[in-house]
Amino acid sequence: MKILIIGNGGREHAFAWKCSQSKKVSQIYVAPGNGGTAQEKKVKNININAEDIENLLAFAKKEKIALTIVGPEAPLVLGIVDKFNAAELPCFGPNAKAAQLEGSKSFTKKFLLRHNIPTAEYACFSELNLAIDYIKSKGAPIVVKADGLAAGKGVFVAMQVDDAIAAAKDILGDKSFGSAGSKIVIEEFLAGEEASFIVITDGTEVISLATSQDHKARDNDDLGPNTGGMGAYSPAPIVTKALKDRIMNEIIHPTLEGLKKDGIDYLGFLYAGIMIDAAGNPKILEYNCRFGDPETQPIMMRLESDFVELCEATLNGNLSNHNVKWSKKIALGVVMAAGGYPIKYSVGQKISGLESNNSNISKVFHAGTLFKEDQFVTAGGRVLCVVGMGDDTLEAQQKSYETVAQISWEGEFHRDDIGYRAIERE
Ligand code: AMP
Ligand code: GLY
Repeated sequence: MKILIIGNGGREHAFAWKCSQSKKVSQIYVAPGNGGTAQEKKVKNININAEDIENLLAFAKKEKIALTIVGPEAPLVLGIVDKFNAAELPCFGPNAKAAQLEGSKSFTKKFLLRHNIPTAEYACFSELNLAIDYIKSKGAPIVVKADGLAAGKGVFVAMQVDDAIAAAKDILGDKSFGSAGSKIVIEEFLAGEEASFIVITDGTEVISLATSQDHKARDNDDLGPNTGGMGAYSPAPIVTKALKDRIMNEIIHPTLEGLKKDGIDYLGFLYAGIMIDAAGNPKILEYNCRFGDPETQPIMMRLESDFVELCEATLNGNLSNHNVKWSKKIALGVVMAAGGYPIKYSVGQKISGLESNNSNISKVFHAGTLFKEDQFVTAGGRVLCVVGMGDDTLEAQQKSYETVAQISWEGEFHRDDIGYRAIERE
């Protein structure tokens, strides 16, 4: 069968790599892909942007694509699944209505409240003066969020009232996020430790995938500005069996039941960003309607069963008969980024040391790279994600950093402490 994967990041490289291992698959196209996807067996990049739904649809029809897997949120929110389904092309991911769980934070907060799902207390504003009054009445710390999609940049965790007011002015007053910021959600600050809890569902059956944790801050010790993610590992030891059961019973199942009651069909990956407080109670911070990046990279390294069969079983409503097998090993991915990320960075730097770095215990996934004139060059902020596997997190971390040390380009930087919380726990 022929597969189409949509997106160009590390997540999509990991999907393409995993799909290429499936015996059922003869050809994989990645739109638009990156320098790494193009190197995988059976994989070809095609030059169509992830949000160019009309051309993606025309391509899928022409090539008789048997399964399309959508990586990023933007095409899902734009309704790619609805359009493919109307053309009777199997497309893995939620439809536009269901993708609102990521596409609108105010939609999601209302939904969570309506269905009694534990989350931070909040209020929603489109008028700046009212927002400022609310911030002053609540005090700091407090969190200000642009309502719509903002590529991970629309959340401000303010430790001071003045910073929260500045964020509200930036979003509502200066329209820094365009229409994604026509409303803001202001919410209670939740203290604790975060985990990524990703499930696959056809709307009725649900399977929780391997647990993981991401490091969102740019610098060591989780300091510095928020990024798309500087490294991730799986499993996350904080998510014990008991906590997993609570997350399923208190958050995931009530969410799927709530969607059903509201007449929304959800099919695809559902990613819950969970905050776990000091007493071990989980609350939901946000929903993403897709797999995480960089969480996908270590999770795909641990997946032993066929990923294509898993997606097909979900699309065919056979998830309840499906068994997902995971490696007992720990997988840990370190993101190598371009100097200046997440703000301003250069592209086009030659990358050296990539030649022989793939085995079944370590793998370099590409994100912002291009293969040009026989050479890999940087083409984005997060450039690579280097995953190592080990019997414990420390070994996985060592394996990953051994490979990281061999790779370089001008301005490259990475965190030195990915996995430190898990290593402390072990
Ligand atoms: P979000 O895109 O909503 O997940 O927010 C991005 C990041 O901001 C999260 O991963 C958290 O680290 C942080 N964050 C969001 N909401 C809160 C909150 N209510 N309390 C504390 N931190 C938060
Ligand atoms: N790693 C966080 C995300 O994918 O949103």
